[in-house]
Amino acid sequence: MLSFLAPAADVGAHGPVNPWVALAYLVAGVFFILALRGLSSPATSRAGNRNGMIGMAIAVITTLVTHDIANIVEIGIAIFLGGIIGVTIARKIAMTAMPELVAGFHSLVGLAAVLVGWAAYLNPGAFGLLVGDGISAVSKVEMGLGIAIGAITFSGSVIAFAKLSGKMSGSPILLPGRHVINLGVLGAIIVLTALFALAGPADTLPLIVAVTVLAFLIGFLLIIPIGGADMPVVVSMLNSYSGWAAAAMGFTLGNTAMIITGALVGSSGAILSYIMCRAMNRSFISVIAGGFGADDSGGGSGEPREQRPYKQGSAADAAYMLEQAEKVIIIPGYGMAVAQAQHALREMADLLEERGVEVKYAIHPVAGRMPGHMNVLLAEASVEYDKVFELEDINSEFAQADVAFIIGANDVVNPAAKTDKSSPIYGMPVFDVDKAKQVFFIKRSMGGVGYAGVDNDVFYMDQTMMLLSDAKKMVEEIVKALD
Ligand code: TAP
Repeated sequence: MLSFLAPAADVGAHGPVNPWVALAYLVAGVFFILALRGLSSPATSRAGNRNGMIGMAIAVITTLVTHDIANIVEIGIAIFLGGIIGVTIARKIAMTAMPELVAGFHSLVGLAAVLVGWAAYLNPGAFGLLVGDGISAVSKVEMGLGIAIGAITFSGSVIAFAKLSGKMSGSPILLPGRHVINLGVLGAIIVLTALFALAGPADTLPLIVAVTVLAFLIGFLLIIPIGGADMPVVVSMLNSYSGWAAAAMGFTLGNTAMIITGALVGSSGAILSYIMCRAMNRSFISVIAGGFGADDSGGGSGEPREQRPYKQGSAADAAYMLEQAEKVIIIPGYGMAVAQAQHALREMADLLEERGVEVKYAIHPVAGRMPGHMNVLLAEASVEYDKVFELEDINSEFAQADVAFIIGANDVVNPAAKTDKSSPIYGMPVFDVDKAKQVFFIKRSMGGVGYAGVDNDVFYMDQTMMLLSDAKKMVEEIVKALD
């Protein structure tokens, strides 16, 4: 039935090439590009996801029907079991645990690249890589790169997972002379990969073993010095690495769909890392080089905090002042996600708008624990997109706002980022909430700190009223008081 997909007579370096297969992979690639385009805005993200799924289905089906699959039943069972595990995790995972889940999944992509690379090395005939009695130098370069990037992705992602899930301390671990060690190991990997490519068939094994071991080591060394607020960049950077590992393996397997997909993931991850570095005013190079510029003292976390006076209010106080306001800017953060307060928040905003109050939402690019975290939650509560603004578009409006309503955000409103050079968040652009006439700050206790672990002067400002409670509970009480 699918005889037109049978290999054509022209045999390429990796085996027979069929123009229909190439076309199917091209169509899959177009769907992946449409997916990325769709994911760039919350309004089109569902369509983007759908396009991604269609592209992946085309790529997988094409590969299954056109390759000599050793045992289709085994592959079917593997897909079925993997699918069940994926669906179960996706249903169970809390939004707040998303970054560590993503890091965990990246580790699997890295490991898969290492295993495919090793399989191709050990049995080149099965991959169409045998030239004479060995593998060509070009194929060995692709293989070495794929294994090296895959191994870096694997060990780096495992450390990122451990840090983000709290299984390992989130603060930077700074080894003495780490930059020299890192450069030395990276240099050794490049030299050994070149020697591997040039070596005769009998001499390659120790070289590829050394590349694999050193790449696992450098992944670990690159991520342990990164801590605190730089972790989101690490996750998107590992995403990028996993893409490049897949692209390198695409060359080894002679699979254009993998090359296209890997390149798209690699470049979009790199662009996202760059955008996030800019949002946090970090140098891209210093983050990917592993803790360049990190403070050897380990940042501000854990230091005892002095007691300072602050004002505490109730839901009734907040409701009364919100009703009087003309303009309210809501700044959601990680605590809103923890409390799942987005629906109650939307209800509160509706009630205020009914009373003629202008309500806007201000989203910081690194608010929460994953890119777009707040956008997703607000979209889930059906907040209109035209009321949601990025940092640079709304920051100048705080001077005209009657109320800055901070709900579970902390680091992204901390003025220390502008004034305190010793602060771990120094340099990150933050919301100018201090310019608003009145600030409401919802958090559970004065003891809790934000992700970066530092005190926040906004708590103690004259115009700040602390609303100490779980975010959902507090907003529900405000809604009751407004009703
Ligand atoms: P954070 O600075 O982490 O502050 C969260 C605040 O929420 C804390 O003040 C906490 O205080 C409060 N909170 C927690 N649970 C709450 C609940 N149930 N009800 C009410 N309040 C609650 O949040 P942010 O301002 O969104 O900043 C994000 C930080 O995470 C940045 O430093 C960023 O670099 C980092 N980060 C971001 C990402 C991405 S990609 N977005 C990924 C990893 C890390 P209490 O404990 O006192 O309640």
